[in-house]
Amino acid sequence: MSQPLSNEALAAARTAVIPKGHASGTACYVAHASGALVVDVGGREYIDFSGGIAVMNVGHSHPKVVEAIRDQAGKFTHTCFMVLPYEPAVRLAERLCPLVPGDFPKRALFVNSGAEAVENAIKIARYHTRRPAVVAFDNGYHGRTLLTMTLTSKVKPYKYGFGPFAPEVYHAPFAYCYRCPLGLTHPACDLACADHLEDFIVACTAPEQTAAVIAEPIQGEGGFITPPAGYFERVAAICRKHGILFIADEIQTGIGRTGAMFALEHYGVAADLTTVAKSLAAGMPLAAVVGRDEIMDSVHPGGLGGTYGPNPVSCRAALAVLDIFAEEDLLGRARRLGEILAARLGGFKERFEIVGDVRGIGPMIAMELVTDRHTKAPAADQAKALGRFCFEKGLVILTCGRYGNVVRLLMPLVITDEQLQRGLAILEEGLTALTS
Ligand SMILES: Cc1ncc(COP(=O)(O)O)c(C=O)c1O
Repeated sequence: MSQPLSNEALAAARTAVIPKGHASGTACYVAHASGALVVDVGGREYIDFSGGIAVMNVGHSHPKVVEAIRDQAGKFTHTCFMVLPYEPAVRLAERLCPLVPGDFPKRALFVNSGAEAVENAIKIARYHTRRPAVVAFDNGYHGRTLLTMTLTSKVKPYKYGFGPFAPEVYHAPFAYCYRCPLGLTHPACDLACADHLEDFIVACTAPEQTAAVIAEPIQGEGGFITPPAGYFERVAAICRKHGILFIADEIQTGIGRTGAMFALEHYGVAADLTTVAKSLAAGMPLAAVVGRDEIMDSVHPGGLGGTYGPNPVSCRAALAVLDIFAEEDLLGRARRLGEILAARLGGFKERFEIVGDVRGIGPMIAMELVTDRHTKAPAADQAKALGRFCFEKGLVILTCGRYGNVVRLLMPLVITDEQLQRGLAILEEGLTALTS
């Protein structure tokens, strides 16, 4: 490549060749990145609280990942697993299957992206059950392909103008306690929203026509909506009772994000099928559907696959990621990070009226901003302004949620204490500026 252009020159150049629908949240064009730090083409350094949207749990350019990629790229980069298969995919499946919740034999199907994993989970569920309907949840996010966009709940920007959508997808209310869809309060509600799922299925799809219920253990794009303990136990029990498959979309929550390898571990529940992507291969394209052997094996030979999945370089990167978790006690670090963040964000909630709710598990944590704690009117403009303030000061954060008023933290788990404290201080300064 020739000499890199400045951020401004690249921003101007892209408008001529990249469609504006593929927008970027910042004008920072990355030159290099390491751990939790990103440096742009102008030499400016940023602390990264976004982790490439939950992809960089092991940190940018981890030396073990870089070495695995280099080594595999020097051997071969593609032969197509459907033509000439290779060892890294088999080894990765051997390592990944036991990590996914569920004390039963499993199989792993590898594909390239989160959306492709969700598409395949639904294909497999429909094939196995011979039923058409799928129940997803309000505020859920599952991707941008036709089926996954249909499963996704939020209209703008994900679905707006892109209809008609795929058939036989239905959305049920989720356990959004801060804004309970049933108007109740936890724990007095006794998890009425979980019980409501059964009524919903009877009324909207009929159990014997329902292939699967798909849920994120913590809704990511939807606003880090975190159901209370016991919720998924009931959801899984309803599914079991009616022969409906329970699919956990762990694409954002998985690979250590919540301080456990998979978030459903916190709920003591196993799904029939689990989708995995994002931090699995530290930024190399790779995703998986991991599920019960008899369900995964029900599909005829040739019914699943694709040209690229699983790319061998991505598999080697993923094996390195799993090594890093084992060798560097990254889950322990994630739990410690979670404690620090809970204390600090809890303090923000006490000090700043604008912080209406702090929620999440471990280091998958967010603040929902409101202009009025009583009415809970969403503070979307303020969330945007906070993002801009932080960026100006050298910190990258992300917003999410139905109203865009939730600030979520997804920093690499390898972030140093010093970087973490520096980033949190900027966030605090931003909240102070917003409210003064
Ligand atoms: C829970 C969840 N499912 C699916 C997806 C789609 O993944 P991808 O963007 O790799 O297609 C995402 C991406 O943000 C996600 O968070």
